[in-house]
Amino acid sequence: MTQDEAKKLVGLRAAEFVEEGMAVGLGTGTTSVQFIHALGERVRGGLKISCVASSESSHKLAASLGIPVTTLPELPELDLYIDGADEVAPGLALIKGGGGALLREKIVASAAKKFIVVADSTKIVEHLGRFPLPIEVIQMAMPLVVRKLAAIGLEGKLRHTKEGNIRMTDEGNYILDCACGEIPDPERLAAQIRSIVGVVEHGLFLNMAAFALIAGEDGVRELHP
Ligand code: A5P
Repeated sequence: MTQDEAKKLVGLRAAEFVEEGMAVGLGTGTTSVQFIHALGERVRGGLKISCVASSESSHKLAASLGIPVTTLPELPELDLYIDGADEVAPGLALIKGGGGALLREKIVASAAKKFIVVADSTKIVEHLGRFPLPIEVIQMAMPLVVRKLAAIGLEGKLRHTKEGNIRMTDEGNYILDCACGEIPDPERLAAQIRSIVGVVEHGLFLNMAAFALIAGEDGVRELHP
């Protein structure tokens, strides 16, 4: 099975967890795109739901598929949030933000009663840190944050688009990608990063996911913390 096939399979499976009348948070990224397409099918089949997306791109996609989608202030309490991850470690410690939506993703995940991670098996790791950790930063604080991150041993690289422009988040902030190497204590690192003024959010999602749906050669399996 290719990675794309795995993403499609897990997206389809995730859509089965959505029930009539639910308020649903839609994630961001290529796996979430598959989930949103599968959900669109169910909506066209008569499922009545309301949704909030964690990025402008997911919002637009959902709307284009006929999924009723509104904003978090309009729908602040969600039953379910379904989103991908860049890394999934034991205990369902996650790195997210490869798609640049980490801030809104964490907000929407926090608004949901249950967060289900959807991923293919290449995302499973023993320790977080192989994937560069994204950190969303207020523009004017960038040099300050880079210096403070260096003091805790992290080298932040400003994210650019394919066209070479600085990548802006949906909230108008910058993203620093930090090559961490193996992160021995994610909780400690999260607290260190959070304490830096000018950091808006980081891509460590700890103790947030209820369970993960992981697609691999044997189909889709559930992974619990
Ligand atoms: C978006 O900002 C991310 O958190 C994504 O959920 C994550 O990068 C996984 O993306 P893919 O599903 O595209 O691998």
